[in-house]
Amino acid sequence: MSTRFQAVSIADYEEEALKVMGGDAIAFYNSGSDGEETLKENRFSSTRYRIRPRIMRGISHVDMTSSILGHSITFPVCVAPSAWHRFANLKGEVETAKGVTSAGVVMNLSSVATVRTEEVTSSFPDGLFFMQCYCLGNKRLQELMLREAKRQGFKAIVLSVDCSVISKRRKQFGPSMLERINSEMLPINYMQNEESSRRAEEEGPAAFLEYFMNMAHGATPVGLDFIRWIKDTSELPVITKGILTGKAAREAVEHGADAVWISNHGGRQLDFSPSTLDVLTEVVDALKGTNAEIYIDSGFRSGSDVFKALALGARAVFLGRPILWGLAVRGSDGVRDVLDIIKEELRLCMMLSGCPDINSITKNHVINESDYLAAKL
Ligand code: FNR
Repeated sequence: MSTRFQAVSIADYEEEALKVMGGDAIAFYNSGSDGEETLKENRFSSTRYRIRPRIMRGISHVDMTSSILGHSITFPVCVAPSAWHRFANLKGEVETAKGVTSAGVVMNLSSVATVRTEEVTSSFPDGLFFMQCYCLGNKRLQELMLREAKRQGFKAIVLSVDCSVISKRRKQFGPSMLERINSEMLPINYMQNEESSRRAEEEGPAAFLEYFMNMAHGATPVGLDFIRWIKDTSELPVITKGILTGKAAREAVEHGADAVWISNHGGRQLDFSPSTLDVLTEVVDALKGTNAEIYIDSGFRSGSDVFKALALGARAVFLGRPILWGLAVRGSDGVRDVLDIIKEELRLCMMLSGCPDINSITKNHVINESDYLAAKL
């Protein structure tokens, strides 16, 4: 860890994470799928949107508080599920949660959390945790996992619907990662409670991991009914993560989803899928007349990126890699700093745009570059 490190922007954390992390792991975190077209798109799509400020609104401070599924958050930026935090910090998800809960926002725990979820939830009894899950090939296992989530106090289930198979990734686990997985990491908490996964575990970490990969990404042929099943079984609100069209959003909500999460998985799944900002309006239109909340992620790196998403109709923005960079560089302090940097940028953006609170950020504050240029002709 670099003690003198001081960041002005998220880009500083990205640069520093490249220096402090092992080559294999940072390449795994930062890479995307296939030709990485969507990953590149995520970097630039926000620049196509311009902010239209209001002037002289008599504002001396802004209120950034918001809520998500009825839970209060200090500002509408939360933490997406990402696997393998122990590659960034030895304490893994416990360290991440320390930073996130101190910031007063939601933390998603990945199905592939590298410490026991109970260790995380019980360390921060006031924390707001959502549990991410895949559509597993073993329903008994899925049931166990959902019941465990409820018991441990998770507030919602995030069902990742864009991962029935793992894409062709530019960079999968490199040799140093595999060595560590084999020697010390036993992820995938809930699996130890079930007979067949216990047998796989007894064969060793590699067999266990393979078992999980088949279970979670072995093309389980689930249909939309699965959303209702997850909701009924878990007795928790369900968020479908990985929505990229208005139709998919509508279908998910009609089948019981309480919220939809627009995501291209940070450019790690279907390459050439669109930027999430570009599909936000379509999803907002498709969900008019429902109470479903809309969240978004993939490529958000600054307060003005967040402002644009809120203006176009997202209730909250989630961060993936920036949190891992913060964790790698300065542990929980880095995680907190990443969130604080974005929060301060959002505050400034709101002040400069004449928005005293989150609800006053409207679609009139943002315009796509192409419409803007056309409007001036
Ligand atoms: C992810 N993501 C992810 N999503 C999920 O539903 N379950 C998971 O276990 C993971 N694991 C994971 C690992 C790593 C290393 C990354 C980078 C991402 C996707 C994540 O939740 C989110 O959708 C993206 O990371 C958002 O994009 P940005 O913010 O990373 O650009």
